[in-house]
Amino acid sequence: ADGNYDFDVLVIGSGPGGYVAAIRAAQLGLRTGCVESRETLGGTCLNVGCIPSKALLNASEKFYEAASGALAKHGVKLGSVELDLPAMMADKAKAVTGLTGGIEFLFKKNKVEWVKGLGTFIDAHTVQVGERKVTAKNVVIATGSSVTPLPGVEIDQKIVVDSTGAIALEKVPEHLVVIGGGVIGLELGSVWQRLGAKVTVVEFLDQLLPGMDSEVRKEAAKIFKKQGMEIKLSTKVTGVAVNGGKATVTVEPAAGGTPETIEADAVLVSIGRKPNTDGLGLDKIGLATNQRGQIETDHSFRTKVDGVWAIGDVIPGPMLAHKAEDEGIAVAENIAGLTGIVNHDVIPSVVYTHPEIAGVGLTEEQAKEKGEIKIGKFPMAGNSRAKAIDDTVGWVKVIADAKTDRVLGAWIITSVAGTMIAQVAQAMEFGATSEDIAYTCHAHPTHSEAIKEAAMGVLGKPIHI
Ligand code: FAD
Ligand code: NAI
Repeated sequence: ADGNYDFDVLVIGSGPGGYVAAIRAAQLGLRTGCVESRETLGGTCLNVGCIPSKALLNASEKFYEAASGALAKHGVKLGSVELDLPAMMADKAKAVTGLTGGIEFLFKKNKVEWVKGLGTFIDAHTVQVGERKVTAKNVVIATGSSVTPLPGVEIDQKIVVDSTGAIALEKVPEHLVVIGGGVIGLELGSVWQRLGAKVTVVEFLDQLLPGMDSEVRKEAAKIFKKQGMEIKLSTKVTGVAVNGGKATVTVEPAAGGTPETIEADAVLVSIGRKPNTDGLGLDKIGLATNQRGQIETDHSFRTKVDGVWAIGDVIPGPMLAHKAEDEGIAVAENIAGLTGIVNHDVIPSVVYTHPEIAGVGLTEEQAKEKGEIKIGKFPMAGNSRAKAIDDTVGWVKVIADAKTDRVLGAWIITSVAGTMIAQVAQAMEFGATSEDIAYTCHAHPTHSEAIKEAAMGVLGKPIHI
């Protein structure tokens, strides 16, 4: 510890990147502070992101199962089912406060000081927080990201909302128009569709879910259409006008053409997120952002400025909570003189719709570009557990190197894909081959057996298809 500074490590931002970095640094014996301007700790993820959205996805799925009559074929007959939206929202709020309070508890337990307020650099070792000038030997920027605005479309959080407004609507809109068919649009679109809204998704590109395997993207569009979602691909929004509590969305083909209008009760703008660096005073320390507004770092998460590090959504890479967390651990370990590494080639991504959509590693297209590959695919319709519980939508695809058999990626569509993908991520971390997976004993009957069978498909033939 260096007594010339208030802290050995000062983290700016308490999201999954920042709070994890702070706790790890403290665990490693460093005097640590964490600057956060929100009322509660936990950043986007715990307050308005991962956690409240997953609480609503779960509750809305339960409502849908009950209200749609889907349970009757399992012998569960229900009388009338009613939606109590305020109770659902209160339950969601409880999940959030439980977890944000949990971080506060962990800060106390690990002796991390929460420096409350907005942090602005004065120099590389001094951060102004309200009246206080806080000094630190190392500063970690973990300021996260916020919603990308759509030029000309004003977010009022009542009729035209971003994700924060969409997890807090006071009533179910009759027609929700979602601008952007990415992760947020599909997850929150699903929530309101299950609660009774008609949902139209307007996507600029010719497929949903950019970045995912193209077969997955096509299948996703089929599945969501079957669920009743209207999906307008290759379509751009040119304007949203709000009048008398309703919105008129003007759209036209992405390549240009005849405009049409869509009437909506609510419009969700979900066209991506941008790094938070405004007001951080990066100019004071001579740190510039790249063209995408991100702070660049090396593999140790060092920026170009000595003593200043950066992690999470504010740096390049997927904007995911677990990526931010792993970088948080790594940066703290690097600051402490250990070797913190994140393998950015093996970061799973999950869309928590029903079914869930998950992937890790390369897409089929990316893998093909790199060399010869073999693919094993297994449908959930051939999986006994899925059959037993009427959950047969989806499949597993395992992609392996044709010569070495090493697993290069996997894509899974099924109700519990998000949990299943961890197995493949682990296998890839260990440099596993598809043979390693195929000859690992998987419990029966589980959805995970479909991964084993897909791996058998890479080698030759699965058993159950
Ligand atoms: P953030 O979580 O954004 O935290 C940054 C914090 O820094 C904020 O609390 C902010 O107030 C604070 N801050 C910023 N500037 C300053 C400053 N100058 N001074 C003081 N404090 C400051 N990811 C997943 O992996 N799984 C999911 O299921 C998932 N669901 C999501 C759902 C929604 C609706 C949204 C919007 C996002 C979701 N994400 C999900 C993405 C995830 O939330 C982010 O990747 C993650 O929060 C990034 O963590 P972070 O620590 O980099 O930043
Ligand atoms: P996204 O990048 O996933 O999707 C945005 C979509 O909007 C893209 O398909 C894009 O082509 C489209 N688009 C862009 N401009 C458009 C326009 N003008 N008109 C129509 N479509 C347009 O971004 P999203 O959904 O806003 O989510 C932001 C980030 O939050 C994601 O990148 C993800 O990292 C994170 N997130 C992760 C979740 C998870 O892991 N389950 C859940 C929610 C968010």
